Order: sequence, then C-alpha cells, then structure tokens
Amino acid sequence: MSFRNAARKTFLSTRAYSTPAGSSALKERFAELLPGWQAEVKDLKAKYGNTVIGETTLGQAYGGMRGIKGLVWEGSVLDPVEGIRFRGKTIPEIQKVLPKVEGGNEPLPEALFWLLLTGEVPTAEQTKALSEDLAARAKLPKHVEDLLDSCPSTLHPMAQFSIGINALESESEFAKAYANGVGKKEYWKYTFEDSLNLLAKLPTIAAKIYKNVFKDGKVAPVDVSLDYSKNFATQLGFGDNQEFVELLRLYLCIHSDHEGGNVSAHTTHLVGSALSSPYLSLAAGMNGLAGPLHGRANQEVLEWLVAMKAELEGDFSKEKIEKYLWKTLNSGRVIPGYGHAVLRKTDPRYMAQREFALKHMPDYDLFKLVSAIYEVAPKVLREQGKTKNPWPNVDSHSGILLQYYGLTQQSFYTVLFGVARAFGVLPALIIDRGLGLPIERPKSFSTQKYIELVKSITKE
Ligand SMILES: CC(C)(COP(=O)(O)OP(=O)(O)OC[C@H]1O[C@@H](n2cnc3c(N)ncnc32)[C@H](O)[C@@H]1OP(=O)(O)O)[C@@H](O)C(=O)NCCC(=O)NCCS
Repeated sequence: MSFRNAARKTFLSTRAYSTPAGSSALKERFAELLPGWQAEVKDLKAKYGNTVIGETTLGQAYGGMRGIKGLVWEGSVLDPVEGIRFRGKTIPEIQKVLPKVEGGNEPLPEALFWLLLTGEVPTAEQTKALSEDLAARAKLPKHVEDLLDSCPSTLHPMAQFSIGINALESESEFAKAYANGVGKKEYWKYTFEDSLNLLAKLPTIAAKIYKNVFKDGKVAPVDVSLDYSKNFATQLGFGDNQEFVELLRLYLCIHSDHEGGNVSAHTTHLVGSALSSPYLSLAAGMNGLAGPLHGRANQEVLEWLVAMKAELEGDFSKEKIEKYLWKTLNSGRVIPGYGHAVLRKTDPRYMAQREFALKHMPDYDLFKLVSAIYEVAPKVLREQGKTKNPWPNVDSHSGILLQYYGLTQQSFYTVLFGVARAFGVLPALIIDRGLGLPIERPKSFSTQKYIELVKSITKE
C-alpha cells in the first residue's frame, strides 16, 4: 500500500472521533504526512543513531544545560543571530505568506497552527474552516466556569489560568481513550482532538479571568463566523478596535513557538512524554511561563517602564535613561526584557512589534521610552559585562502595545503569552505522539559523582 493510501486508511479510521469539519482537513493532512516522517526518523536512527552530535561539559551541567543538543522539535528552530524560523520561515515571511482576514494585514494564528503541525501553508479556505471549527469548540464546561468564579481576585491570573486548564482535564479524550486501552498508534488522534478543544477554550478561560479580576465578570459568547483573534478580542472587551484585533493576531503568532528548550515548551513536552493529557501537559508548561525570567518578564517590563517614566518626568534623554539603567543593575536586578539564553542579537519578535508600533502609534510616549532604552541599554549591559546578550527580547516591547489600546492590567499579560504559546507547544505534542517519542529521562549526577567523573577523565 502506498503512503498515500495507507494515510488515507488511517484518516478514515479517525472519522469515528467526530472531528468537526474544519479540523478534519488538517487531521487528514497530518495523517497523510505522518507515515513519511515516521519512516524518515526510523531511517535516520537506524543509519546515524550512534553518530556523536555534540559533547557536554561540566559547565553545561551546572549552567542550565545551555547548548546541549538532546531535544527533537519540528515546529521551529532558533538561530542565535537571525532569530526564530517557523518551519523554515522568518517572521516577515509568515507575515507575508499566511492567510489573513479580508482587509487585514497580520497573519492568522490558526494558519500558523496548521503550518507548525504540517510544515505547509494552509489556504484561506482551510484557515477559515479551522477558525469556525475552533469557535464551535469554545464553550467551557460549567465546573470550569464555577472554579474560575471562585478564585479570589488576589490570585495571580497565571495561577488562575493554570487552574482552569487543569480543570479541563475532565474533557480529555486522550485520558479516556488511554484508560480504555487504546493502542499506541492511535495516541496522536486523541491528542489532536484534545489540542483543538484546548486551543479553542483558552481564550474563554483567559477572558473569564480578565473579566473576573478587572471587570464585571461577563464574557461574550464566540461567533463562529469570526476568526480566533477577533473573537478573543471581543471576549476581552476590545473587539471593536480593529487595530487591537490586528495586534492580537500578530501577538499570538510571534509568541507561539521558540524551539523546544525554553521552559514552557520543554515542560509541556516533558510532562507530555509521561503520556499526561494535553491539558495537564500545557498547564505544567504555563506554570513555567509564569516565572519572571520567562513569560512573566512582560509584566516585569511594564512595571519597570512605568516606574522609570514617573522618575524621568518626561525627560527621556540618554543620560537620564543610562542613569536609571545603572540604578536598576546596581540594586541587583536584571534589566527586564533584555538578554536571552540563546539569542545574541535583537529578537525579530521585538522588531515585528516595533514595526507595528511605528505604523500605529509612532508618537506614543511609552513607545518613545522603549525606543530610547533600545538606544542605551545594549551599551550599558556591555559595560556591565555580565550578560552574553545585551539586546532586547520579545517581552521588552509587548506590554506597551497593549497599554496603548487600553489593556493596562499588566498582571494579565503573561496569560496572553500563554494562549499564544499553546499554538506552538500543542502541535509539538501531537507530533511527539505521532512519532512515538519515549518518556524523557536525562541523566543526573550528584556533585560528588561529578567530582569523581571529572577526576577519572582528567586523571588528576
Ligand atoms: C533571559 C535570561 C533569563 C537568560 O539567562 P542566561 O541565559 O543565564 O543569560 P546569560 O548567560 O547572559 O547570563 C549571564 C549573567 O548575565 C546576567 N544577565 C542576563 N541578562 C541580564 C539582564 N537583562 N540584565 C542584567 N543582567 C543580566 C545574568 O543574570 C547572569 O548573571 P550572574 O552571572 O550574576 O548569574 C536573562 O537574560 C534575563 O534574566 N533577562 C531578563 C529577564 C527577561 O527578559 N526574560 C525574558 C526572556 S525571553
């Protein structure tokens, strides 16, 4: 049987899982592609499984495992200088080739999901059908709504987000199928359904948290004729502002995926490797995203900018900014939004947001402040001489764009990042299950053992 026929057969057997129309084309395409990928990986392992692809130093073991090659991640690869490529495409390229709504300029995250899962750019019709499908799956079960309503408004939005996602585990088709003894080859199909359901429900969870904590608690229902970002913006209360909707489309795309080793992606993958459902896996990843050195940096940046603006009293001169940066560093803090574990140049996600700001809010005072810091901070960080990367990352720009349109509650910002991150880590989880990747279990040693190891190697 040819790949295509085998795939067709696989696809037909998936019909039993009642995939709504819009995602069935995506599921079918994935099923067609999967046997080829499985064969490719099998061949690669058979031919080169013993080829040495890197070496590990003791410094890396104590240094957060930077640079150690040991993960497989198909959706994106991060070049230290050039930045991210999604399935080989740069951010400007995805802005160009991915479908947009009529009259819109920014790519649709639904289309990016398709690209990350299959490596192929969907048509406008396929994207529209996927948008409709996601909207049809958006409703939350009552117990999740009740749980979110019972959270105190003092509980950080990211903690609430994680609670909401964990509670959705009740809906897991993967967990039910596993409990019923489904075979390994079928895992990805249930993971696919869970991932689509989860992705579809995330904006409603996020909007519920936003409305509960900061507004009247009421969230508008989704409209199946609208795209994901327009619905999400409407649920947050900003749907009438077309520029905000466009920003959200861009925001969701550029925050989606950044290779597999960052904390949120790696955690989702790691927990998923134990065959925890996509709900439990993503919730774990979100707990990592909530850390101030990772996704919460966008909240930290905004708080820091607001404090700086107040202290500078409108004087954004280089001298004043430099003084403030040194004050931050000398107090033992990091400059939030600068530095990166992998990148060694300005993050193209920063540049995409800068382009957006230049187009839509060139005279906004917080944008001017962010631009002025960009002129000074790399020099100051180089002078300090600690960070390997003195350039800005994605988080140094995102908050002020949201502020401009009135989404001013910075403790909510990481939740938006979390919704976006799901677009990257869920396709990866489906692929993990499709390729049958094993439970992850790297080796650890105690310091005593490492001492013995290095002594035996260096013969000291
Ligand atoms: C992103 C980040 C966690 C990467 O960490 P990393 O890979 O360990 O970075 P480096 O190897 O360059 O760190 C070396 C030193 O420079 C410091 N450093 C890194 N970024 C810094 C920054 N923005 N401001 C001040 N110091 C910084 C580190 O704290 C470390 O100091 P130490 O030796 O005293 O522990 C780090 O750059 C950071 O804390 N940035 C600010 C938070 C942020 O923007 N996070 C979002 C990332 S997308």
